[in-house]
Amino acid sequence: MEFPPALARKYGKNGEWDYLPCTPECEKKNEQREWELSRREARVASLKERSGLSKRMKGYTLASFKPYVDRSAARAVERVEAYLKDWEEMREAGRGLFFCGGVGTGKTHLAVAVMNELIHRRRVPALFVTVPELLDNIRETYNVPGRNLDDWMEAVKNADLLVLDDLGAEKPSDWVQERMFVIVNHRYREALPTIFTSNIGPEELPRQLGERTASRVIAMCEGIKLDGRDYRETARNEGA
Ligand SMILES: Nc1ncnc2c1ncn2[C@@H]1O[C@H](COP(=O)(O)OP(=O)(O)OP(=O)(O)O)[C@@H](O)[C@H]1O
Ligand SMILES: [Mg+2]
Repeated sequence: MEFPPALARKYGKNGEWDYLPCTPECEKKNEQREWELSRREARVASLKERSGLSKRMKGYTLASFKPYVDRSAARAVERVEAYLKDWEEMREAGRGLFFCGGVGTGKTHLAVAVMNELIHRRRVPALFVTVPELLDNIRETYNVPGRNLDDWMEAVKNADLLVLDDLGAEKPSDWVQERMFVIVNHRYREALPTIFTSNIGPEELPRQLGERTASRVIAMCEGIKLDGRDYRETARNEGA
């Protein structure tokens, strides 16, 4: 390949560029770049370590999601891409996403894909929690005196990005509902983005979570409906 004329003039004949010795200045720059890269990799690894994601979920990315399985999946991917593109704005406004739809339609996959992309691209401290697990932990602190969940609860309340998976799967008692409200209300007030997945639609949320929690969830999220087939079954049939 020919050098552009300006470079050819500067460095004499074509190709000499390759043999230019690296000045101490550029060596320093390279070292710094390498150091920054390794620091970035270490940061990504540590964010993944603390993300609460299982081994399987670390593979839930946009690249591994097939958008053409049905129209709603394709549309959902478009909206996820737009969300990632506008992340700085979304973060500032505390905007999240609410994936709803039937079993195996890809809700958890897409919610986790957003997390994985933001950890890799922007090194966002993100946390994945399933709501049933969260409720179990809340109940335990109620039943087991002395059990202290404060640190974990603070992490859930304050994560830069929180994924709450399987919202509304069960109708919690008033006491547990109140604890859920504390988390959701905190994230709403502090404008911290939260991504929810749920088998139930927004219209059923008030009955399941109480009106005050449901109203905040709906206010801070863009709803994305997935109405395709159960992908677990599709994958089984394809594999057979
Ligand atoms: N369009 C897709 N392309 C590739 N894999 C998919 C797709 N949709 C779902 N999957 C895979 O199918 C499995 C089920 O998807 P996922 O767990 O996201 O479903 P879900 O909607 O959260 O279901 P549930 O309501 O049971 O929690 C996962 O292993 C996921 O990676
Ligand atoms: Mg799920």
